[in-house]
Amino acid sequence: MLELNGKRKTALRRWLRIAGVALAALVLWTLATLGSGRDGGDSRRSYPDETQDGRGQIARKRDDGIIRVGFSMDTLQEERWIKDQELFGKAVEALGGEFIVMTADSDDAKQIEQAETMIGMGVDLLVVVPHDAEAAATIVSKAHAAGIKVLSYDRLVRNADVDLYVSFDNERVGELMAESITKLAPAGKYVFIGGSDTDYNAHLVKKGVFNVLQPYIDRGEITVVFDQWTPNWLPANARENMRIALEANDGRIDAVIAGNDGTAGGAIEALAEWDLAGRVPVAGQDAELAAAQRIVAGTQTMTVYKPIRQLAEVAAELAVSMAKGESPRADRLVNNGKIDVPSVLLTPIAVDAANIDDTIIADGFHSREDVYGAAAP
Ligand code: GAL
Repeated sequence: MLELNGKRKTALRRWLRIAGVALAALVLWTLATLGSGRDGGDSRRSYPDETQDGRGQIARKRDDGIIRVGFSMDTLQEERWIKDQELFGKAVEALGGEFIVMTADSDDAKQIEQAETMIGMGVDLLVVVPHDAEAAATIVSKAHAAGIKVLSYDRLVRNADVDLYVSFDNERVGELMAESITKLAPAGKYVFIGGSDTDYNAHLVKKGVFNVLQPYIDRGEITVVFDQWTPNWLPANARENMRIALEANDGRIDAVIAGNDGTAGGAIEALAEWDLAGRVPVAGQDAELAAAQRIVAGTQTMTVYKPIRQLAEVAAELAVSMAKGESPRADRLVNNGKIDVPSVLLTPIAVDAANIDDTIIADGFHSREDVYGAAAP
C-alpha cells in the first residue's frame, strides 16, 4: 500500500490533475476514432464508398485502385463458355484488372445469389451471362443499388437498366443459318429446333431464321412442320424433339435448323436412327469441334462461327473502361423491353466444308488435325 507527506501531497495532487487531463483526452480521442468507423464502429452511418448489396449487407468497394470485374455465368455446358471464361479472364488481367467468376449451372436462384456475393465482395463492375433473361433483371437492380454497373455478355438481360450489351449479331446468326439451308433445300418440310426459351438469344436467332424463311413460306414452297424450344439447350431434349418430328412426318423431313451445335448434334442422332444423317441438311451455331468434324464428315451442313476471342477482348476492354467510370463506346442500340441498351454487336461467320479451313482452322479456333482427324487431306 502507498504512504504520503505535505510537499508530497501537493506534488501528488499536481500529478493526479495531469493524469486526469491525459485520461480525459485519451477517452475523447478513442470516442472520436470509433465514430469514424475505421475499426468497425457505428454501422448505421453510411460512407461514400460503402453501399448496400442485394441482401442489405454492407458492400464496400475497395479504393486500392485495382479494378475488380465479376463474371456471372449461366453454365459451362457448351464448349464455347469454357473459352469465354478463359479468354475474358485473361483479357481483364492483361488490362491490369482482377477477375472473379461464378457459374450458376442453369439455376436462376443460384445465379442471383452468386451475383449478390460478388456485389458484396465489392466488384467494380458486374458482367452477366443470364440463364433467364427476365429473372436476371433482379441482378441489375441489386448491382445498381450498390453503385455497380452491369455489362450483358453475349446474352441480353431483359426489362432492366442494363448499362452495356456486348455480343454477336444474333439475328444475323439466324439469317446465315437459313440462307445456307435454303440454298440446298429451297422447298419442302422444315424442322426448327429452337434454343432455350429463357435465353433471349434463342428468340433473336429464331427471328433471323424466319426473316429468311417467311417469303418461302408465303409462296408455299417451305412448310415448317415442327417448331419447338429446347429447354436449357440440352442436346438430349433436341434429340427427343427431332424424334417426335420424324415420327409425325414419317421421316419425310427436308431440312433442319437447330439453335446451336449441341442441339444440331442431338437432331442428327435422331436423323441417324432413320438413316437420314448426311442426307438432310442441318444448320447449327458455335463452331464446336464436334460440329466441325460433322461438317467435314458430311452429316452437318454448316455452323455459325463466332470468334470468341474477339468478343472476350472487346467486352473486357469495355468492362474495365466502364469500371474506371468512363462511358461505354457503343455504336448500336438494342431494345430489351425496357430501354434501348447501348450495344456492340460483332459479326458472325457462316462456315461449311468449303470455307472451314479459311475460317475456324485459319484462326486456330480448332486445329486441322482435330477437325479432320489423322486422315487430314
Ligand atoms: C446462346 C449463345 C450460343 C449458344 C447457347 C447455348 O446464348 O449465344 O452461342 O451456345 O447460348 O449456351
